[in-house]
Amino acid sequence: SDPHLVERARAAKAALGNRVFVLGHHYQRDEVIQFADVTGDSFKLAKEAAARPDAEFIVFCGVHFMAESADILTSENQRVILPDLAAGCSMADMAVLEQVEQCWDTLADLGIAESTVPVTYMNSSADIKGFVGRNKGVVCTSSNAKRALDWAFAQGDKVLFLPDQHLGRNTAVLEMGFSLDDCVLYDPHKPSGGLTADQLRSAKMILWRGHCSVHGRFTLETVNDVRERVPGVNVLVHPECRHEVVTAADYVGSTEFIIKTLDAAEPGSKWAVGTELNLVRRLADAHPDKQVMFLDKTVCYCSTMNRIDLPHLVWALEELVAGRVPNQITVEAATAHHARAALDQMLALP
Ligand code: 13P
Ligand code: SF4
Repeated sequence: SDPHLVERARAAKAALGNRVFVLGHHYQRDEVIQFADVTGDSFKLAKEAAARPDAEFIVFCGVHFMAESADILTSENQRVILPDLAAGCSMADMAVLEQVEQCWDTLADLGIAESTVPVTYMNSSADIKGFVGRNKGVVCTSSNAKRALDWAFAQGDKVLFLPDQHLGRNTAVLEMGFSLDDCVLYDPHKPSGGLTADQLRSAKMILWRGHCSVHGRFTLETVNDVRERVPGVNVLVHPECRHEVVTAADYVGSTEFIIKTLDAAEPGSKWAVGTELNLVRRLADAHPDKQVMFLDKTVCYCSTMNRIDLPHLVWALEELVAGRVPNQITVEAATAHHARAALDQMLALP
């Protein structure tokens, strides 16, 4: 990265001292990660944000829904800053509050809303988390989805899972013992989600039709291809990948799980990793004694994660030094109240 910008970022951080705390998601660029006070998956970062009551400014190097969650979990006088407001998440955008409310009305008309527990992946807007909190549900991440579903099925007999169909399906089928037939796919662009009343009544898991455009690119052919090219390779993927990819993989888990698995791997072992490319590159650099490669042959960055680059980070830090608060992310009080209930429920999972 540009040494001049590196120097400016260093100077601005030093000038701010303990007043600023920089969080970096694992998918961030190296040039940004070098300035993170802590790195993590979305679960760890949510907890870290909540555990820093002394920091006046939380600079969130990640995407919009993560900054919203940090705002919800931090105290009133703390400000959360997203260095580029265009850093959104296409998956989170696939569930809009009006659509989810319409879905809930459909379930209510069928008399099944009462026994349905809404569960939303962290990768959703504060509005959706607020909806889930109002309806006594829970937030989950890729590291605690099974625990969240165990809890949800102790509260009701059906789950509406938002917005990632793959995390929902993969967890239900591979970790909870449900069959594919227990899951139905609710398409928000069709009346009643494109499902019949019978399908909705008999489903255990109603999966929202959302997905991650980055992890959705890995296919069964990618897995078969790497196994052919690299004999003895271990395939390690994120649960946002399609069901057939996760089924064909050797290991599946969140970004933190992927990191820990590679830390514990034998020297000389071979790993094809199916997640975002910034993280896979960093893991390959960190493990020169192992063969760590990207699962796909083509590049696969998360373009919105990549919006946060060193120039944006320097700009945000220098604005803070100058006494201005740039790109503050705030969640309206009523929404934050209910979203907080759903997040607290997640943090309280056994
Ligand atoms: P985790 O950090 O929870 O593994 O999620 C991956 C992701 O896609 C974040 O946007
Ligand atoms: Fe969203 Fe996928 Fe990017 Fe994560 S990797 S921020 S889920 S688009």
